[in-house]
Amino acid sequence: MNDRELIKLAMEAKENAYVPYSKFKVGAALITEDGSVYIGCNIENASYSPTICAERTAIAKAVSDGHRKITKIAIVGDSHYTYPCGVCRQVIREFGKDSEIIIANNEEDYKKYNLNDLLPNSFGPENLIKEEEKDV
Ligand code: THU
Repeated sequence: MNDRELIKLAMEAKENAYVPYSKFKVGAALITEDGSVYIGCNIENASYSPTICAERTAIAKAVSDGHRKITKIAIVGDSHYTYPCGVCRQVIREFGKDSEIIIANNEEDYKKYNLNDLLPNSFGPENLIKEEEKDV
């Protein structure tokens, strides 16, 4: 699956966004290590805080199917270049430290980043190993 195809899936997923409150649609599509593809949209809630972003919807679908390594994720939103929120950056960090992150307006107009561009000096699973537990 190439970048354009992944962006197209993210654009299609965006149309399923449930956004009665913000009216701001976001779609995401990701590829896992073995080539599996998952899509997600943002899903809002009348109580507001249970809202889940498109990126985390797609990641939750992938992880719940047993995939723990994301290699690429494309994000398309209603604004000109919709960047992932801080919470989504941290969740991408958990399952896609080395992933490519595509921020797209459409299939022809997009920018590519790596996680370190968007979340430098990040905290992740390996940082939970305490100094005294290393080399044991
Ligand atoms: N949203 C996403 O889906 N992904 C992001 O990374 C940014 C924000 C959603 C959440 C909410 O439904 C709407 O966009 C407005 O914040």
